Parts: sequence; structure tokens; C-alpha cells
Amino acid sequence: MEYVHVPVMANEVLQQLVPERDNALMVDCTTGEGGHTKLFLEKYPSLKVIGLDCDSSIQQKAKHRLAPFGDRFEPRHIWFDEFWKNYEGPEVDLVLFDLGISVFHYEESNRGFSLRKQEELDMRLNESEGLTARDVVNTYPEQKLADVIFRYGEERYSRRIASAICEERRKHSIETTDALADVVYRAVPQEYRHLRFHPATKTFQAIRIEVNGELDRIERALEGAMNALRPGGRIAVITFHSLEDRPVKWFFRNHNDKLEILTKKPLVPTEQECKENPPSRSAKLRVVQKRRDV
Ligand SMILES: C[S@@+](CC[C@H](N)C(=O)[O-])C[C@H]1O[C@@H](n2cnc3c(N)ncnc32)[C@H](O)[C@@H]1O
Repeated sequence: MEYVHVPVMANEVLQQLVPERDNALMVDCTTGEGGHTKLFLEKYPSLKVIGLDCDSSIQQKAKHRLAPFGDRFEPRHIWFDEFWKNYEGPEVDLVLFDLGISVFHYEESNRGFSLRKQEELDMRLNESEGLTARDVVNTYPEQKLADVIFRYGEERYSRRIASAICEERRKHSIETTDALADVVYRAVPQEYRHLRFHPATKTFQAIRIEVNGELDRIERALEGAMNALRPGGRIAVITFHSLEDRPVKWFFRNHNDKLEILTKKPLVPTEQECKENPPSRSAKLRVVQKRRDV
């Protein structure tokens, strides 16, 4: 079965990000399979999109899918904060962030993002660099591991889970997703084992965020994007949990001398979208516009 990532809140994003001139420039900071980018390229025939992704495998899919648009789509294999740190290009009209990972990562990447599968613990979005989930799980001191699980998973049983992981790895290293999920399952209290989600869900999220430095990159990238934006240009950010949403909300509030907040409350998907595309359920969309007088 082939899985296709459905672009989240596509109508709302298209309504909010409207180029004010011909030959406008957009940066899609999280191109993925190119779902959002494709909609923009179709809608605005003179728009050019620079499409970032730190994952070269998914970027191959975007390149293939967006090939008909020729050089109006320019893929860049890079972390979005790195891109903005060194950006010296022309002023940008529109910027989109659709944070997190894609259906591809869970279903096809074989990198251990899904706890329903039996895969090696990797979880790196950029496979060519950095610590793997296996390194984190098997080498972090117990306290550090507990902090990661607490901070990035908001997991109330973080200490019990970290302690169980350390006990297990003293016997043998934890190599696979199912082995990790099993250790967590056994570590938590009985009543926590029968909730709507698997008791290891938050631990998996936490380790993925740690492996990819996900939260630290958001603010750095927003800073760079804000500076590169032309007056009247817009940034839209879709987040999927409060740990992502909070830094975005505060960044926008703290820079309201330069940015006008267009979504006092974040926009959320319609009921119909939630029904048709359940991963969209937790999405929030925030949009700002660069003031014209700065
Ligand atoms: C939710 S998906 C984007 C889906 C896309 N909007 C679509 O409609 O097809 C997020 C993508 O961003 C990438 N990504 C996540 N964090 C990143 C970062 N810090 N820098 C660059 N790419 C990142 C992931 O590899 C993933 O492909």
C-alpha cells in the first residue's frame, strides 16, 4: 500500500499566504513530499518556491512530483535554521513551516519512527549526521534520559521509564522500536497501559525531538525568515503539539514591533478535515505579516 501525505489545512494556508506581486518568492521550509508547494505552484503561475527539507529521501519524492514545474521549484537539502542563518538571497514574499514529520517517515522510511513497527532505532531526519535514537537510548545517563522524556514528551512517568531503560540496557542494548516500546510498556502503571494511545507514544516523540534538535531550530529559523521577509510578506506556521506551538506563539508576540499577528487565535482544521485526515486533528496554524513601516 502506498501512503500519500495529505497537506494539512491546505485551504487555510492558501487563503493566508497570497503573493502581492508577480514573480513572487516563497520558501517552503518543510517541503516533505511537496503537497503544499504543489498547490502554490499550480495556483500562481509566476511564483517560485525554494523547497527545503533535511531529509534527502523524502526530497527525492518532492523533486519527482514537482519536476513538471521546472526551475520554479528549487529544492535544497538543508535544515531550515541553517538555511536562514546563511541566507543572503532576495527578499522573500511568503514562508511556510509545516512542522514535524510526514506519513512517509512513519510508514516507509524504516527508521524507527513508528512504535507499531519492528525497525531499528534511528529516527534521524538527516541520515548523514548526528546521534541516532539508538545512541540516545543506550548511552545517555539516566538523569539526562529522564529529562529528555519529561521535557520533550511531557511524560509524567519519565523517571520510571528512564530507570527501566537503563536497567534493560545493562542486560543488552536496546536496538529496535518494539524492544523500546516493550520496556516502556512494562515500566508504566497498569492503568496507563490501556489508554487511547500506546504508553510509549510520548517517549518516542521525546526521543525523536532530541535526535533532531527539533524545538531548538524553530526560533532560530523564525528569526532568519522574519529578517528576510519583504514588507507585507507573510509567514505561516502549522504546529502539531504545544511544545512546537509555544515557541512560535511567543516569537510572534515578542516581535510584534516588526510583525502583525493575523491570527489572534490559531486557526484549526475543520471537522471535516479532521475526519478525512486524522493526523490533522492537532494542527494549529499561526500567521503573521511583516509590517510595512519597518
Ligand atoms: C509535515 S512534513 C511536510 C509535509 C508537506 N507540507 C506536504 O504537504 O507534503 C514536514 C517535513 O519537514 C521536514 N523537516 C522537519 N524539520 C525540519 C527542519 N528543521 N529543517 C528542514 N526540514 C525539516 C521533514 O523531513 C518532513 O519532510
